[in-house]
Amino acid sequence: MRIAVIGFGTVAKSLLKVLAEKSKLILDEYGVEIKTVGVFKKDGAFINTNGLDLEKIINSQNYRSEEEWVEAANFNKIAGELNCDCAVELTPTNVETSEPGLSHIKTALGYGMDVVTANKGPLALYYPELMELARQVKRRILFEATVAGAIPLFNLVRNTLRANRIISVKGILNGTTNYILSRMTSEKLPFKTVLKEAQRLGFAEADPSYDVDGIDAAAKLVILSNALLRKECRFKDVNRQGIRDITPEAIELARKDGFLIKHLAISEDGVLEVAPRLVEVGSSFAVSGSLNVVKLQTDLAKDLTLIGRGAGGVETASSVLNDILELAILRR
Ligand SMILES: NC(=O)c1ccc[n+]([C@@H]2O[C@H](COP(=O)([O-])OP(=O)(O)OC[C@H]3O[C@@H](n4cnc5c(N)ncnc54)[C@H](OP(=O)(O)O)[C@@H]3O)[C@@H](O)[C@H]2O)c1
Repeated sequence: MRIAVIGFGTVAKSLLKVLAEKSKLILDEYGVEIKTVGVFKKDGAFINTNGLDLEKIINSQNYRSEEEWVEAANFNKIAGELNCDCAVELTPTNVETSEPGLSHIKTALGYGMDVVTANKGPLALYYPELMELARQVKRRILFEATVAGAIPLFNLVRNTLRANRIISVKGILNGTTNYILSRMTSEKLPFKTVLKEAQRLGFAEADPSYDVDGIDAAAKLVILSNALLRKECRFKDVNRQGIRDITPEAIELARKDGFLIKHLAISEDGVLEVAPRLVEVGSSFAVSGSLNVVKLQTDLAKDLTLIGRGAGGVETASSVLNDILELAILRR
């Protein structure tokens, strides 16, 4: 399996590290040899059509001085020269234009590559179009890491819940808002104080709006709804309310009645919503910290609830790697 990795940030570096560490296990267990022939950054790429030395590029102190570095190499321009089976798209999420991810995915499909992505933007905006394009060129797009990082949702439904109809999805899909609400609850602190601390600790971005205004959760809900509920929908279809207005007083009132306030994403009866909601203390949604929770309501298996890490380099790389392996096995 020859892959090109687009992006060299948190997830990409973790993926390359895991690929280097697990290459023998992957070969022994699955009979798959994964060769990384390109790793792209904004300003160029590491290219070796015989396969890159991953340890070397991960540990490089000055990437521009590496002999495999090609200044200004751009995936969209040189994809055809890579002779690649799969493009792994790991550039930043953008829910306004979905670029640069959208162009990378279209280019990869155009050259007959399968695609694995952790980038929510292209699928939140263009899920139906991208799946149709993949169908036309007889290739696949796998995107397990786009929602709830390490939790194997799409894989579970595709491979283990065959013939089930997914009736609804309800979840805590953003670890940062869950962390903030958990701290506000346990320490009776106002939103702004906890947000500042989360930013200091690196749990929240300098511009926290993607998380606290529910943009990230809404993008994930759109992907879940398209992929699992077979509902053709887009980012603009989500009714979205963030957590900025939640006060310690409201949290305390809820607590006295046996409830917690959680930021839930719900897709049910054709309605998509991300908003603060009351959940019972002790229920499966009463998880604290930065964990994610997803509850699937299905017709045959009934209710299933999954809890796990929604972010983190290695955790996300776990899902990305599994998608790559699934495609490699399908290509045999
Ligand atoms: N981090 C997580 O825990 C997590 C979890 C689930 C999903 N995701 C998603 O996974 C994706 C990657 O996340 P991340 O945390 O690894 O992001 P990141 O650390 O910000 O890294 C992004 C990488 O993309 C590269 N890039 C940007 N524009 C590019 C372009 N036009 N061509 C080639 N490379 C380009 C950047 O290049 P430079 O190095 O040149 O700046 C950088 O290396 C995002 O879409 C994110 O939403 C992340």
